[in-house]
Amino acid sequence: MVAEKIDGKEVALKVRTRIHEEVKKFQAVHKNFNPYLTIIQVGDRQDSSTYVRMKLKAAQEAGIECKIIKLPEEITEFELLTQIRHLNEDVNVDGILVQLPLPEHINEGKITSEVDANKDVDGLGPANVGELYKKGGNARFLPCTPKGVMTLLSEYNVQVSGSNAVVLGRSDIVGKPMSQLLNQANATVTSLHSRSSPEQLQFYLSKADIVVSAIGKSEFIKGDWIKEGAVVIDVGTNFISDSSRASGSRLVGDCDFKSVSEKASLLTPVPGGVGPMTVASLLDNVIIAAKANFE
Ligand code: GUN
Repeated sequence: MVAEKIDGKEVALKVRTRIHEEVKKFQAVHKNFNPYLTIIQVGDRQDSSTYVRMKLKAAQEAGIECKIIKLPEEITEFELLTQIRHLNEDVNVDGILVQLPLPEHINEGKITSEVDANKDVDGLGPANVGELYKKGGNARFLPCTPKGVMTLLSEYNVQVSGSNAVVLGRSDIVGKPMSQLLNQANATVTSLHSRSSPEQLQFYLSKADIVVSAIGKSEFIKGDWIKEGAVVIDVGTNFISDSSRASGSRLVGDCDFKSVSEKASLLTPVPGGVGPMTVASLLDNVIIAAKANFE
């Protein structure tokens, strides 16, 4: 089998176009509806700067005002918390996103918990996380990457209900909410992670109809671990050195693309798969926040 490539750029463009249309329609009725996202970036990580720039551009194209607050690497946790509290109180700000990862000396959980639940467009604060895990819960904001993966599965008519799904990775931002969303969609979900043994990885992967990988290991998953016809979603964004490139590095996923594409039925490329969907889901969350804050 040769896998069909899932075109995340195309689906993301569709979502972003729908959002822009929605913004224009809403503004036609409510002249002072101005969705506004603030992104906080601490430090100067090159990957974070790239992601933040992409979010800014996509937001502006969709009619969302976006401001980036760049803070120095040495900022204290208290100063960062104070900055977030100011934004929580600013009535013009609809959405607040703190770009992760944060420097080692700052407790990420403490920071993401400080964002006002009504502005928590990353869906990482306690209210949104709690709602996601409750029976009949009603999370206003779902974390952007898992939300984007669910949109891709739906756009490609993947049968989630009744499937065996494997999620590799158990981070707060991708692995855990991803497992929960697949579970809510009636998949039977197995969570694998860095402490799973090679035997466990291969055993569960060989039975998985859907694989979502977010373990951050370059080209780790091989085609012969995968069930014939599986749907494979690669969330990995790993930079490996490549002297043939001017930048000296190249972005690859968690999957060995060539061998996995010979076994899977559908596969996301890296780049151009999940990444654009993370951005599109963020914009969707900003509009949800802006509409709720407007009423
Ligand atoms: N770093 C990588 N992806 C994300 C994301 O979706 N949200 C935030 N806040 N930081 C990230």
